[in-house]
Amino acid sequence: MPETREVRKTREGCPEERFEALLAAGEQIEPGDRMPDGYRRMVLRQIAQHAHSEIIGMQPEGAWLTRAPSLHRKASLLAKVQDEAGHGLYLYAAAETLGVDRAELLDALHRGHQRYAATFNHPALTWADTGAIAWLTDGAAVVNQVPLCQTSYGPYARAMRRVCQEEAFHVRQGYDVLWSLCRGTPEQKRMAQDAVDRWWLPAVALMFGPPDTVAGGADARTAAMGTSVTRRSMAWGIKRHTNDELRQRFVDNCVPQAERLGVTLPDPAIRWNEERGHYDFTPVDWQQFRDVLGDGSACARQRLAHRVAAHAAGAWVREAVDAYAARQAEHGERAEHGEAA
Ligand SMILES: [Fe+2]
Ligand SMILES: [Fe+2]
Repeated sequence: MPETREVRKTREGCPEERFEALLAAGEQIEPGDRMPDGYRRMVLRQIAQHAHSEIIGMQPEGAWLTRAPSLHRKASLLAKVQDEAGHGLYLYAAAETLGVDRAELLDALHRGHQRYAATFNHPALTWADTGAIAWLTDGAAVVNQVPLCQTSYGPYARAMRRVCQEEAFHVRQGYDVLWSLCRGTPEQKRMAQDAVDRWWLPAVALMFGPPDTVAGGADARTAAMGTSVTRRSMAWGIKRHTNDELRQRFVDNCVPQAERLGVTLPDPAIRWNEERGHYDFTPVDWQQFRDVLGDGSACARQRLAHRVAAHAAGAWVREAVDAYAARQAEHGERAEHGEAA
């Protein structure tokens, strides 16, 4: 959309006022715009955590690629896992527009200085887990990411628009895996139910972050902390909704889908609340995730070790790319000076 004359004038005006005026006009902040340090740090932290989650999130399902039950299932799972690598790339590229190198971000991940969604610190025990992960965690990702298509930092918003289209395919793919299992043998149906039992709570709790309203189940202290971060983020147009609003939206989406599938969501408190116009569910007890949230759990250590090993194994590719780029640059220089290449 072409910028209005007012917005163009604002971009060229006083830097402090310009930032606030762009936000007030609903315009996006671009890499060349002056922005408060706090805004830059908050956006960078969110993009980095998101990028890390995309690439660590490849692991639980990636482990099932060699054991997919058919060529068709293998092809779609492979495409899905590759998409996640691509999402990581878009996001690292978006982070680079804030002046931080991708290698630096990966280093921070590998040293445990930056986090990823702790949802992925759970193992995928059976083939059905690939279905439950895609239906539930990718489903939660869609709920989180659709509003991020309008987030205030331009490169992040543009990355999200592309990511969301692919995430929608992932959810369908996972739902389809579960759909087949639920219509298979009693043992296959049990497998599907078991996987849903394992992934429901990690998706509901960890894909949306800590409760940030007292109504969302947080004690007053957690709610106060969560609310102040959320409020700042919303004032800057980074977040558009509270964690608890998005969590509710996710539960509302999943209940009818679970009914159609024929699986039971493992929460006896789920029931339609006519007055609220939403499904009730058990409030998230954030403390119960302390083990998986910490870096010390066996699965977390395994995820990180695998990532570090994969990065080391790919060193020769990075070296080859650098050598090729250096040669191209050298050829370019020679051509510029009229020498034969
Ligand atoms: Fe993704
Ligand atoms: Fe995905």
